[in-house]
Amino acid sequence: MVTFTIPQEIERFFEFTERSEFKKKILDCGAGGSKPKIAVFSERGYDAHGVEISDAQIERAQKYAKENNLNYKIVKADMRKLPFEDESFSFVYSYHSIMHITKAGTIKAIKEMLRVLKKGGLLYINFQSTDSTGLKWGNDIGDNEMLDFSEVDKHGFNDTFHSFYRDNEADDLFKGLNILHKGKTSFEYTYNDEKAKVSQLIISYKKIETTFTFMILIYRLLIV
Ligand SMILES: C[S@@+](CC[C@H](N)C(=O)[O-])C[C@H]1O[C@@H](n2cnc3c(N)ncnc32)[C@H](O)[C@@H]1O
Repeated sequence: MVTFTIPQEIERFFEFTERSEFKKKILDCGAGGSKPKIAVFSERGYDAHGVEISDAQIERAQKYAKENNLNYKIVKADMRKLPFEDESFSFVYSYHSIMHITKAGTIKAIKEMLRVLKKGGLLYINFQSTDSTGLKWGNDIGDNEMLDFSEVDKHGFNDTFHSFYRDNEADDLFKGLNILHKGKTSFEYTYNDEKAKVSQLIISYKKIETTFTFMILIYRLLIV
């Protein structure tokens, strides 16, 4: 059994992937850490792969796999340049990771995710909302792109960079895809003894199989 609380959004994506008839092959972009979400899919029988840019985060995820007898594979790579063939995954997702990339970098990362995703495959991404009251450290170096030069990297990855998106700002990045779910959740957490509220925008998309596929749009706004 996975030993951490499985985020509701990961469970929802799993429900979508379970309904797909595609081979259960999945890619997690930004897959490292001590509570690796890829463990959820691996445990449930998926051929689970991940990319991760930080050695320290890869080590944490590998330790988790060993301790919990799981066999997902995480390679060191940048999600802006994925080391995989076109259309090699049925499902691709990125959880709490794209927020550490600039908006220009995010455009590249999403292009790459769509390149490696099969037509008809499913994509899930969450963005950090401009409604967040936390993590807004340092200087705004762009459009809601915060970088704190004074922070020492505490976790072995660049958690001192955060990008924040307005509600519909990311929509253009997914033109031509079917939206299966779009929502917004908020949760509170404590970081450095400071309480912060983080809002995330959640989008699941289906890459269209033909240009004549009908648009399915389910819009839900959820604030907890
Ligand atoms: C907040 S952690 C989330 C990790 C994991 N998805 C989870 O839910 O626990 C963000 C992760 O994204 C990784 N990351 C940041 N930029 C990346 C990039 N360009 N390519 C791959 N991984 C990246 C970080 O090193 C870090 O492990």
